[in-house]
Amino acid sequence: MSFVPATSVSELRWFNSVEHVLETLRPNAATYLVRPKHIQAKVTEFLRRFPGWTLYAVKCNPATAVLDPLYAAGIRDFDVASLEEIDLIRTRYPDASAYVMAPFQPVGTYETAYREYGIRDFAVDTEDALEAIFDETGATDLTLYVRLDTDNDDAMFDLSSKFGADRRTAIRLLQKIAARGALPALTFHVGSQCEDPAAFTRSGALCEEITREANVRIKTVDVGGGFPCPYPGGDTPPLDTYFEAIAAFREKDVFGPAVELFAEPGRALVAEGVSLVTQVILRKGQQLYLNDGAYGSFMERNLEGAKINYPVRAFRQLDDGSIMEIDSPNADYTVFGPTCDSCDKLNDPIGLPAGLQRGDWIEFGMMGAYSNAYASNFNGYRPKHFIGIGDPADLEAGAVVAI
Ligand SMILES: Cc1ncc(COP(=O)(O)O)c(C=O)c1O
Repeated sequence: MSFVPATSVSELRWFNSVEHVLETLRPNAATYLVRPKHIQAKVTEFLRRFPGWTLYAVKCNPATAVLDPLYAAGIRDFDVASLEEIDLIRTRYPDASAYVMAPFQPVGTYETAYREYGIRDFAVDTEDALEAIFDETGATDLTLYVRLDTDNDDAMFDLSSKFGADRRTAIRLLQKIAARGALPALTFHVGSQCEDPAAFTRSGALCEEITREANVRIKTVDVGGGFPCPYPGGDTPPLDTYFEAIAAFREKDVFGPAVELFAEPGRALVAEGVSLVTQVILRKGQQLYLNDGAYGSFMERNLEGAKINYPVRAFRQLDDGSIMEIDSPNADYTVFGPTCDSCDKLNDPIGLPAGLQRGDWIEFGMMGAYSNAYASNFNGYRPKHFIGIGDPADLEAGAVVAI
Protein backbone atom coordinates (compact mmCIF):
# COMPACT_ATOMS: atom_id res chain seq x y z
CA MET A 1 0.00 0.00 0.00
CA SER A 2 1.23 3.43 -0.79
CA PHE A 3 -0.43 5.23 2.08
CA VAL A 4 -0.51 5.22 5.87
CA PRO A 5 -3.87 4.09 7.30
CA ALA A 6 -5.63 6.71 9.38
CA THR A 7 -8.75 6.53 11.51
CA SER A 8 -8.78 9.89 13.20
CA VAL A 9 -9.66 13.13 11.48
CA SER A 10 -6.44 14.82 12.49
CA GLU A 11 -4.51 12.04 10.71
CA LEU A 12 -6.71 11.78 7.64
CA ARG A 13 -5.28 12.35 4.21
CA TRP A 14 -7.58 14.57 2.19
CA PHE A 15 -8.64 14.32 -1.44
CA ASN A 16 -11.25 16.10 -3.47
CA SER A 17 -12.90 13.12 -5.21
CA VAL A 18 -12.90 9.34 -5.48
CA GLU A 19 -11.03 9.62 -8.78
CA HIS A 20 -8.34 11.68 -7.04
CA VAL A 21 -8.00 8.95 -4.35
CA LEU A 22 -7.74 6.16 -6.93
CA GLU A 23 -5.27 7.96 -9.14
CA THR A 24 -2.99 8.89 -6.23
CA LEU A 25 -3.19 5.86 -3.93
CA ARG A 26 -4.43 2.96 -6.09
CA PRO A 27 -5.79 1.40 -2.87
CA ASN A 28 -5.63 -2.39 -2.80
CA ALA A 29 -7.34 -2.69 0.62
CA ALA A 30 -10.96 -1.70 1.27
CA THR A 31 -11.02 2.02 2.09
CA TYR A 32 -13.71 4.24 3.57
CA LEU A 33 -14.12 7.69 2.06
CA VAL A 34 -15.52 10.02 4.73
CA ARG A 35 -17.26 13.25 3.69
CA PRO A 36 -17.32 15.28 6.92
CA LYS A 37 -19.20 18.13 5.32
CA HIS A 38 -22.04 15.81 4.41
CA ILE A 39 -22.21 14.38 7.93
CA GLN A 40 -22.21 17.88 9.42
CA ALA A 41 -25.02 18.98 7.12
CA LYS A 42 -27.13 15.98 8.18
CA VAL A 43 -26.54 16.76 11.84
CA THR A 44 -27.36 20.43 11.34
CA GLU A 45 -30.64 19.48 9.66
CA PHE A 46 -31.54 16.94 12.37
CA LEU A 47 -30.71 19.32 15.22
CA ARG A 48 -32.77 22.06 13.63
CA ARG A 49 -35.84 20.00 12.92
CA PHE A 50 -36.10 17.35 15.63
CA PRO A 51 -38.38 18.79 18.34
CA GLY A 52 -36.10 17.74 21.19
CA TRP A 53 -32.53 16.87 22.13
CA THR A 54 -30.30 14.69 19.93
CA LEU A 55 -27.86 12.00 21.08
CA TYR A 56 -25.76 10.07 18.53
CA ALA A 57 -25.80 6.24 18.78
CA VAL A 58 -22.08 5.42 18.79
CA LYS A 59 -22.67 1.77 17.87
CA CYS A 60 -23.64 2.83 14.35
CA ASN A 61 -20.17 4.08 13.52
CA PRO A 62 -17.56 4.66 16.24
CA ALA A 63 -14.71 5.71 13.90
CA THR A 64 -13.24 8.98 15.08
CA ALA A 65 -13.24 10.17 11.46
CA VAL A 66 -17.04 10.00 11.74
CA LEU A 67 -17.42 11.11 15.36
CA ASP A 68 -15.36 14.28 14.89
CA PRO A 69 -17.69 15.78 12.26
CA LEU A 70 -20.68 14.93 14.48
CA TYR A 71 -19.05 16.73 17.37
CA ALA A 72 -18.02 19.66 15.16
CA ALA A 73 -21.65 20.05 14.07
CA GLY A 74 -22.86 20.29 17.66
CA ILE A 75 -23.49 16.76 18.97
CA ARG A 76 -22.52 16.73 22.67
CA ASP A 77 -24.51 13.71 23.85
CA PHE A 78 -23.82 10.11 22.92
CA ASP A 79 -25.74 6.86 23.35
CA VAL A 80 -23.20 4.21 24.36
CA ALA A 81 -23.41 0.51 25.14
CA SER A 82 -20.09 -0.55 26.67
CA LEU A 83 -17.19 0.71 28.77
CA GLU A 84 -15.10 0.94 25.62
CA GLU A 85 -17.62 3.29 24.01
CA ILE A 86 -17.90 5.30 27.24
CA ASP A 87 -14.13 5.64 27.39
CA LEU A 88 -13.94 6.68 23.74
CA ILE A 89 -16.47 9.48 24.21
CA ARG A 90 -15.37 10.75 27.62
CA THR A 91 -11.68 10.75 26.61
CA ARG A 92 -11.99 12.28 23.16
CA TYR A 93 -14.74 14.79 23.98
CA PRO A 94 -14.40 15.65 27.69
CA ASP A 95 -17.28 18.14 27.57
CA ALA A 96 -19.67 15.57 26.10
CA SER A 97 -22.11 13.32 28.00
CA ALA A 98 -22.61 9.60 27.59
CA TYR A 99 -25.87 7.73 28.24
CA VAL A 100 -25.85 3.95 28.62
CA MET A 101 -28.96 3.08 26.65
CA ALA A 102 -28.42 -0.69 26.33
CA PRO A 103 -30.76 -2.24 28.93
CA PHE A 104 -28.20 -4.51 30.57
CA GLN A 105 -24.46 -4.49 31.05
CA PRO A 106 -21.71 -6.92 32.10
CA VAL A 107 -20.98 -7.29 35.81
CA GLY A 108 -19.09 -4.29 37.19
CA THR A 109 -19.90 -1.95 34.29
CA TYR A 110 -22.42 0.18 36.21
CA GLU A 111 -19.96 0.73 39.03
CA THR A 112 -17.12 1.79 36.71
CA ALA A 113 -19.44 3.88 34.54
CA TYR A 114 -20.80 5.73 37.57
CA ARG A 115 -17.58 6.15 39.58
CA GLU A 116 -14.89 6.54 36.94
CA TYR A 117 -16.78 8.19 34.11
CA GLY A 118 -19.56 10.07 35.93
CA ILE A 119 -22.39 8.39 34.01
CA ARG A 120 -25.82 9.05 35.52
CA ASP A 121 -28.15 7.79 32.77
CA PHE A 122 -28.91 4.10 32.23
CA ALA A 123 -31.62 2.12 30.45
CA VAL A 124 -33.29 -0.93 32.02
CA ASP A 125 -35.95 -3.42 31.02
CA THR A 126 -35.83 -5.89 33.92
CA GLU A 127 -35.87 -5.77 37.70
CA ASP A 128 -32.55 -7.64 37.72
CA ALA A 129 -30.83 -4.88 35.75
CA LEU A 130 -32.45 -2.25 37.96
CA GLU A 131 -31.17 -3.93 41.11
CA ALA A 132 -27.71 -4.31 39.55
CA ILE A 133 -27.60 -0.56 38.85
CA PHE A 134 -28.60 0.34 42.42
CA ASP A 135 -26.23 -2.27 43.90
CA GLU A 136 -23.20 -1.39 41.79
CA THR A 137 -23.52 2.40 41.89
CA GLY A 138 -24.84 2.58 45.46
CA ALA A 139 -26.51 5.79 44.26
CA THR A 140 -29.86 7.32 43.45
CA ASP A 141 -28.75 10.46 41.59
CA LEU A 142 -29.66 8.63 38.40
CA THR A 143 -32.06 8.93 35.51
CA LEU A 144 -33.26 5.44 34.61
CA TYR A 145 -34.96 4.90 31.27
CA VAL A 146 -37.39 2.00 31.12
CA ARG A 147 -37.03 0.46 27.65
CA LEU A 148 -40.45 -0.53 26.33
CA ASP A 149 -41.27 -3.48 24.13
CA THR A 150 -42.75 -1.79 21.06
CA ASP A 151 -43.66 -3.34 17.74
CA ASN A 152 -40.91 -3.16 15.10
CA ASP A 153 -43.20 -4.14 12.21
CA ASP A 154 -42.22 -1.22 9.97
CA ALA A 155 -38.47 -1.58 10.38
CA MET A 156 -35.91 -3.49 8.33
CA PHE A 157 -34.17 -4.63 11.52
CA ASP A 158 -36.27 -5.82 14.46
CA LEU A 159 -34.71 -4.79 17.77
CA SER A 160 -37.67 -5.77 19.95
CA SER A 161 -37.01 -9.52 20.11
CA LYS A 162 -34.09 -8.95 22.45
CA PHE A 163 -35.13 -5.86 24.40
CA GLY A 164 -38.10 -4.20 26.01
CA ALA A 165 -40.32 -4.51 29.06
CA ASP A 166 -43.98 -5.40 28.65
CA ARG A 167 -46.59 -2.99 29.97
CA ARG A 168 -46.88 -4.53 33.48
CA THR A 169 -43.14 -4.78 33.98
CA ALA A 170 -42.62 -1.24 32.69
CA ILE A 171 -45.16 0.19 35.14
CA ARG A 172 -43.57 -1.69 38.02
CA LEU A 173 -40.08 -0.52 37.03
CA LEU A 174 -41.15 3.13 36.77
CA GLN A 175 -42.80 3.00 40.19
CA LYS A 176 -39.81 1.30 41.73
CA ILE A 177 -37.37 3.83 40.25
CA ALA A 178 -39.46 6.70 41.66
CA ALA A 179 -39.85 4.99 45.05
CA ARG A 180 -36.07 4.52 45.34
CA GLY A 181 -35.46 8.22 44.69
CA ALA A 182 -34.08 8.07 41.14
CA LEU A 183 -35.70 9.81 38.17
CA PRO A 184 -37.93 7.65 35.96
CA ALA A 185 -37.81 8.04 32.17
CA LEU A 186 -39.01 6.07 29.16
CA THR A 187 -37.31 4.86 26.01
CA PHE A 188 -38.13 2.66 23.03
CA HIS A 189 -36.70 1.76 19.64
CA VAL A 190 -39.01 1.24 16.67
CA GLY A 191 -36.36 -0.87 14.88
CA SER A 192 -33.59 0.25 12.59
CA GLN A 193 -34.36 1.65 9.11
CA CYS A 194 -38.01 2.19 10.07
CA GLU A 195 -39.99 3.08 6.96
CA ASP A 196 -43.23 4.30 8.54
CA PRO A 197 -43.47 7.33 10.88
CA ALA A 198 -46.66 5.82 12.35
CA ALA A 199 -44.39 3.45 14.32
CA PHE A 200 -43.40 6.47 16.44
CA THR A 201 -47.07 7.44 16.87
CA ARG A 202 -47.90 3.94 18.17
CA SER A 203 -44.90 3.83 20.51
CA GLY A 204 -45.68 7.35 21.73
CA ALA A 205 -49.23 6.29 22.56
CA LEU A 206 -47.84 3.37 24.55
CA CYS A 207 -45.58 5.76 26.49
CA GLU A 208 -48.61 7.91 27.23
CA GLU A 209 -50.71 4.99 28.54
CA ILE A 210 -47.88 3.61 30.66
CA THR A 211 -47.10 7.02 32.13
CA ARG A 212 -50.77 7.46 33.11
CA GLU A 213 -51.05 3.99 34.64
CA ALA A 214 -47.76 4.23 36.54
CA ASN A 215 -48.79 7.63 37.84
CA VAL A 216 -45.22 8.86 38.23
CA ARG A 217 -43.57 12.02 36.95
CA ILE A 218 -41.51 11.14 33.86
CA LYS A 219 -38.31 13.12 33.31
CA THR A 220 -37.60 12.18 29.68
CA VAL A 221 -39.10 10.30 26.76
CA ASP A 222 -36.31 9.01 24.53
CA VAL A 223 -37.68 7.93 21.14
CA GLY A 224 -34.50 6.03 20.22
CA GLY A 225 -33.23 5.67 16.66
CA GLY A 226 -34.72 4.05 13.58
CA PHE A 227 -34.78 7.16 11.37
CA PRO A 228 -34.13 5.82 7.89
CA CYS A 229 -31.58 6.46 5.18
CA PRO A 230 -32.88 6.71 1.57
CA TYR A 231 -31.17 3.64 0.08
CA PRO A 232 -31.86 3.25 -3.66
CA GLY A 233 -35.06 1.35 -4.42
CA GLY A 234 -36.49 1.92 -0.93
CA ASP A 235 -39.58 3.89 -0.06
CA THR A 236 -38.35 6.24 2.61
CA PRO A 237 -40.57 9.07 3.85
CA PRO A 238 -38.83 12.39 4.59
CA LEU A 239 -37.49 12.86 8.12
CA ASP A 240 -39.93 15.71 8.74
CA THR A 241 -42.84 13.25 8.71
CA TYR A 242 -41.15 11.38 11.60
CA PHE A 243 -40.57 14.61 13.49
CA GLU A 244 -44.21 15.62 13.04
CA ALA A 245 -45.41 12.27 14.41
CA ILE A 246 -43.10 12.65 17.42
CA ALA A 247 -44.07 16.29 18.04
CA ALA A 248 -47.75 15.28 18.00
CA PHE A 249 -47.48 12.77 20.84
CA ARG A 250 -45.14 15.07 22.77
CA GLU A 251 -48.12 17.47 23.03
CA LYS A 252 -50.16 15.03 25.15
CA ASP A 253 -51.14 16.44 28.55
CA VAL A 254 -49.68 13.52 30.46
CA PHE A 255 -46.14 14.54 29.52
CA GLY A 256 -46.49 18.20 30.50
CA PRO A 257 -44.07 20.93 29.40
CA ALA A 258 -41.25 19.77 31.70
CA VAL A 259 -40.78 16.38 30.05
CA GLU A 260 -37.65 16.31 27.86
CA LEU A 261 -37.68 14.62 24.49
CA PHE A 262 -34.56 12.75 23.28
CA ALA A 263 -33.70 10.89 20.08
CA GLU A 264 -30.70 8.63 19.47
CA PRO A 265 -30.24 8.47 15.70
CA GLY A 266 -27.37 6.54 14.18
CA ARG A 267 -27.97 5.60 10.55
CA ALA A 268 -29.79 8.80 9.51
CA LEU A 269 -26.84 10.95 10.55
CA VAL A 270 -23.92 9.03 9.11
CA ALA A 271 -24.92 6.52 6.42
CA GLU A 272 -24.76 8.92 3.48
CA GLY A 273 -21.53 10.62 4.52
CA VAL A 274 -19.28 7.59 3.98
CA SER A 275 -18.62 5.43 0.92
CA LEU A 276 -16.46 2.36 0.57
CA VAL A 277 -13.94 1.71 -2.18
CA THR A 278 -13.34 -1.97 -2.85
CA GLN A 279 -11.21 -3.64 -5.50
CA VAL A 280 -11.99 -6.64 -7.70
CA ILE A 281 -9.52 -9.39 -6.89
CA LEU A 282 -10.98 -12.15 -9.09
CA ARG A 283 -13.76 -12.75 -11.56
CA LYS A 284 -15.09 -16.20 -12.49
CA GLY A 285 -17.95 -15.72 -14.94
CA GLN A 286 -20.58 -13.77 -13.03
CA GLN A 287 -18.91 -14.50 -9.70
CA LEU A 288 -17.04 -11.48 -8.46
CA TYR A 289 -14.51 -11.57 -5.60
CA LEU A 290 -13.85 -8.29 -3.78
CA ASN A 291 -11.37 -7.31 -1.08
CA ASP A 292 -14.24 -6.77 1.42
CA GLY A 293 -17.24 -8.95 2.09
CA ALA A 294 -19.72 -10.60 4.43
CA TYR A 295 -17.33 -10.70 7.39
CA GLY A 296 -16.37 -7.08 6.76
CA SER A 297 -18.28 -3.97 5.72
CA PHE A 298 -21.22 -5.90 4.23
CA MET A 299 -22.22 -7.83 7.34
CA GLU A 300 -25.42 -5.79 7.82
CA ARG A 301 -26.51 -6.44 4.24
CA ASN A 302 -26.45 -10.17 5.01
CA LEU A 303 -28.52 -9.95 8.22
CA GLU A 304 -31.99 -11.47 8.33
CA GLY A 305 -34.56 -9.03 6.92
CA ALA A 306 -31.99 -6.79 5.24
CA LYS A 307 -32.83 -5.42 1.81
CA ILE A 308 -30.16 -2.83 1.27
CA ASN A 309 -29.07 -1.54 -2.12
CA TYR A 310 -26.10 0.77 -2.16
CA PRO A 311 -25.50 3.25 -4.97
CA VAL A 312 -22.50 1.92 -6.93
CA ARG A 313 -19.89 3.32 -9.31
CA ALA A 314 -17.03 1.39 -10.91
CA PHE A 315 -13.64 2.69 -12.03
CA ARG A 316 -10.61 1.45 -14.00
CA GLN A 317 -7.10 2.80 -14.27
CA LEU A 318 -6.05 3.34 -17.89
CA ASP A 319 -2.54 2.80 -19.27
CA ASP A 320 -1.73 6.51 -18.92
CA GLY A 321 -2.55 6.29 -15.20
CA SER A 322 -5.80 8.24 -15.46
CA ILE A 323 -9.02 6.94 -13.92
CA MET A 324 -12.07 6.15 -16.04
CA GLU A 325 -15.56 5.54 -14.69
CA ILE A 326 -16.92 2.33 -16.22
CA ASP A 327 -20.37 3.13 -17.54
CA SER A 328 -21.35 -0.12 -19.30
CA PRO A 329 -24.89 -1.41 -18.57
CA ASN A 330 -25.28 -3.36 -15.36
CA ALA A 331 -25.17 -7.14 -15.08
CA ASP A 332 -25.97 -9.25 -12.01
CA TYR A 333 -22.97 -10.59 -10.12
CA THR A 334 -22.77 -12.97 -7.19
CA VAL A 335 -20.35 -11.19 -4.89
CA PHE A 336 -17.85 -12.89 -2.58
CA GLY A 337 -15.49 -11.42 -0.02
CA PRO A 338 -11.73 -12.03 0.25
CA THR A 339 -11.54 -14.54 3.13
CA CYS A 340 -10.72 -18.23 2.76
CA ASP A 341 -14.30 -19.14 3.69
CA SER A 342 -17.20 -20.16 1.44
CA CYS A 343 -19.77 -18.37 3.62
CA ASP A 344 -18.13 -15.07 2.71
CA LYS A 345 -20.81 -14.42 0.08
CA LEU A 346 -23.29 -11.54 -0.14
CA ASN A 347 -27.00 -12.43 -0.19
CA ASP A 348 -28.73 -11.82 -3.53
CA PRO A 349 -26.87 -10.77 -6.67
CA ILE A 350 -25.73 -7.18 -7.08
CA GLY A 351 -26.11 -5.18 -10.30
CA LEU A 352 -22.69 -3.82 -11.37
CA PRO A 353 -21.24 -2.74 -14.72
CA ALA A 354 -20.68 -5.63 -17.14
CA GLY A 355 -17.05 -6.39 -18.04
CA LEU A 356 -15.48 -5.89 -14.62
CA GLN A 357 -11.99 -7.31 -14.23
CA ARG A 358 -9.27 -7.80 -11.60
CA GLY A 359 -7.95 -4.42 -10.46
CA ASP A 360 -11.15 -2.45 -11.12
CA TRP A 361 -12.55 -0.51 -8.18
CA ILE A 362 -16.15 -0.36 -7.03
CA GLU A 363 -17.33 2.47 -4.82
CA PHE A 364 -20.36 1.59 -2.70
CA GLY A 365 -22.17 4.70 -1.44
CA MET A 366 -24.20 5.12 1.78
CA MET A 367 -21.83 2.85 3.71
CA GLY A 368 -21.52 4.90 6.90
CA ALA A 369 -23.90 2.87 9.07
CA TYR A 370 -23.10 -0.52 10.63
CA SER A 371 -20.18 -1.17 8.25
CA ASN A 372 -16.80 -0.69 9.98
CA ALA A 373 -18.73 -1.02 13.25
CA TYR A 374 -19.53 -4.67 12.46
CA ALA A 375 -16.49 -5.65 10.41
CA SER A 376 -14.39 -8.48 11.82
CA ASN A 377 -10.72 -9.15 11.33
CA PHE A 378 -11.38 -12.65 10.02
CA ASN A 379 -8.33 -13.80 8.03
CA GLY A 380 -6.77 -10.38 8.63
CA TYR A 381 -9.15 -8.48 6.34
CA ARG A 382 -10.63 -5.85 8.68
CA PRO A 383 -11.19 -2.74 6.56
CA LYS A 384 -9.30 -0.09 8.46
CA HIS A 385 -8.35 2.66 6.03
CA PHE A 386 -10.13 6.02 6.18
CA ILE A 387 -9.64 8.90 3.75
CA GLY A 388 -11.18 12.37 3.94
CA ILE A 389 -13.03 13.78 0.95
CA GLY A 390 -13.28 17.55 1.17
CA ASP A 391 -11.29 19.98 3.24
CA PRO A 392 -10.08 19.73 6.86
CA ALA A 393 -11.31 23.30 7.35
CA ASP A 394 -14.84 21.84 7.09
CA LEU A 395 -14.27 20.45 10.57
CA GLU A 396 -13.95 23.68 12.48
CA ALA A 397 -15.78 23.17 15.76
CA GLY A 398 -19.32 24.45 15.66
CA ALA A 399 -19.32 24.89 11.89
CA VAL A 400 -22.80 24.89 10.42
CA VAL A 401 -22.65 23.72 6.86
CA ALA A 402 -25.02 22.97 4.00
CA ILE A 403 -24.38 20.31 1.36
C1 LIG B 1 -30.52 1.77 21.95
C2 LIG B 1 -30.28 2.20 20.54
N1 LIG B 1 -30.37 3.51 20.25
C3 LIG B 1 -30.15 3.97 18.99
C4 LIG B 1 -29.82 3.11 17.97
C5 LIG B 1 -29.59 3.69 16.60
O1 LIG B 1 -30.51 3.22 15.70
P1 LIG B 1 -30.53 3.71 14.18
O2 LIG B 1 -29.17 3.53 13.63
O3 LIG B 1 -31.55 2.85 13.54
O4 LIG B 1 -30.93 5.16 14.19
C6 LIG B 1 -29.75 1.74 18.22
C7 LIG B 1 -29.44 0.82 17.12
O5 LIG B 1 -29.67 -0.33 17.11
C8 LIG B 1 -29.97 1.26 19.55
O6 LIG B 1 -29.88 -0.03 19.85
